[in-house]
Amino acid sequence: MQMETDIKNHMINSFNEWDPLEEVIVGDMFDATVPELDIAVRATMPEDQISFFAANAGKEFPSGYVSKASEELDIFSETLSKLDIVVRRPSKIRKSTPYSTPHWQTPGGLYSAMPRDSLLVIGDLIIEAPMAWRSRYFETDAFRPLLKEYFQKGGKWIAAPKPQLLDETFNPHYDPETPYLTDRYAVTEFEPTFDAADFIRCGRDIFVQKSHVTNDFGIEWVRSHIGRAYTIHKIDHRDAGPMHIDATLMPLCPGKLLIHPTRLNTIPAQFKNWEVRKAPLPTERPGHNLYMSTSWLSMNVLMLSPDTVVVEAGERNMIAFMESWGFNVLPVNFRNVIRFGGAFHCVTADVRRRGELQSYF
Ligand code: ALA
Repeated sequence: MQMETDIKNHMINSFNEWDPLEEVIVGDMFDATVPELDIAVRATMPEDQISFFAANAGKEFPSGYVSKASEELDIFSETLSKLDIVVRRPSKIRKSTPYSTPHWQTPGGLYSAMPRDSLLVIGDLIIEAPMAWRSRYFETDAFRPLLKEYFQKGGKWIAAPKPQLLDETFNPHYDPETPYLTDRYAVTEFEPTFDAADFIRCGRDIFVQKSHVTNDFGIEWVRSHIGRAYTIHKIDHRDAGPMHIDATLMPLCPGKLLIHPTRLNTIPAQFKNWEVRKAPLPTERPGHNLYMSTSWLSMNVLMLSPDTVVVEAGERNMIAFMESWGFNVLPVNFRNVIRFGGAFHCVTADVRRRGELQSYF
């Protein structure tokens, strides 16, 4: 009983992707700005969107899409609130302001839509990620009031070393086809960089993918800061444009692992006693442009508890798949949000789930 009370009193308490969700940060689209097309952006953006990025850096995304996405995020937030989940939102900080460091300048930021990318929650700790895109340099500013509050209420809060993002941080000769074989990613090992969304948590075991934004230096930095209670495993993927693990490997609850049909070279050995299923094909949406991702965002689901999953309402295959695998499905319309590179897992940082640190393997 004593332990239960202690857990409830922790403002930050999230060890995995499935324990019952109590408090969550949901991103917003305020002043979403087209990022500068630098090396690390080019390496992961869909080929058919490159000319859009090149022509529009620092400008607004088409406002119709932004306001529709904004509305969907608000409805999603209300839906969670009605389920008695505490929903927190970022502060409204402008992204369309040019900025510079002593070494470089950029026409603007990006957005505060995807806290999964910038905030890594492990247990009672939140880590601000040292993101590799220059356009994301100040992205955690919009979350600072929340981070200060969580700290003042007993949570732990650290920021990884602010990267310099000099030209040396980037490899103009990155491998656009097989970086997982040649180890030529868009980021070098000049300094630690990672996006939080390249990590996924299963209690004492945390899985990470090396990507065009996450380097070994960044992975080692996380390893050295989270302590001996955790083991980080680097996955063996074969993703030509890797950025964010959550459309590749998605643990849904103890014993059930969702994987992309082709992106994993080997399934991590830890999952040998789990049931592993390949995600069904995403819904085809002719003419529905995705600026920043593939349609495999269909896999980017959010677990509200070990048996309830939020799935995009138009993803009929995924809904049927999840139901037949024994989950309750909460369908939520997100067709405009996904244009901006993330679905339910990306737009959230699950600050508190009801549970404790365990080993699942
Ligand atoms: N980067 C992942 C994809 O585009 C999320 O599929």
